[in-house]
Amino acid sequence: MLGPALDLVLSALEQIRDTSERTPCASRETLNRLFAVTETTPARTSADLLDPIRARVQVCTKCPHLVRSRTQTVFGVGNPDADLMFVGEAPGADEDRQGEPFVGRAGQLLTRIIQTMGFSRSDVYIANVLKCRPDMPSGSPGNRAPTPTEMRTCLPYLREQIEIIQPKVLVALGAVAVEGLLGTRGTMRELRGRWHSFNGTPLMITYHPAYLLRNQSPSEKRKVWEDMLQVLEHLGSNITEKQRTYFL
Ligand code: URA
Repeated sequence: MLGPALDLVLSALEQIRDTSERTPCASRETLNRLFAVTETTPARTSADLLDPIRARVQVCTKCPHLVRSRTQTVFGVGNPDADLMFVGEAPGADEDRQGEPFVGRAGQLLTRIIQTMGFSRSDVYIANVLKCRPDMPSGSPGNRAPTPTEMRTCLPYLREQIEIIQPKVLVALGAVAVEGLLGTRGTMRELRGRWHSFNGTPLMITYHPAYLLRNQSPSEKRKVWEDMLQVLEHLGSNITEKQRTYFL
């Protein structure tokens, strides 16, 4: 009984934090009473903590034009305690249909990259900056990139996901995801292959898998692979000789 009630209180406080100038505050007595309650409640897992955020995302109406066009929101998938988290830009048509990030052609390539690193999709966590598919004029094929305003509006959800999952490493896929995360525009040539930080979490930037589908040369594949080798080193993973020499 207490869990859902606390979720409601937290969600109301988070909404005040995200939507108003006021920082939510409570008296010491109220905080002490809240702590007394939480101390007698069994510790909640990361999965438990993600659930209420997923529920808020499902009914989010912050971008009315995206609410009108989406089939469903696409929250994220994988291990809620993952050491490694991938962040893309926004769901495409396949993701909008299936409700899961990176399930289309680019997603299949991302899955292969994850497997080549020695993991499965369920070992890592995968999410996007935007939880809704960017709308397209009716009948037009393809996808459009999310706008900076759409990404700024949606970013608080991703921030909360990252705070709960606490990955050791974040990987941003492509310049649009970087812009959504860091608010900075840059070329992939200057951004990729080195460490950045997102609120203190080490952030590796690499090409979006869709870029690799368009540029299939071994040299471009090698660049992404070198970025992933840096990630594996940072995670302390055992790297085989075969893994070190892929695409050389
Ligand atoms: N591209 C993205 O950035 N995210 C997805 O989920 C799918 C394609």
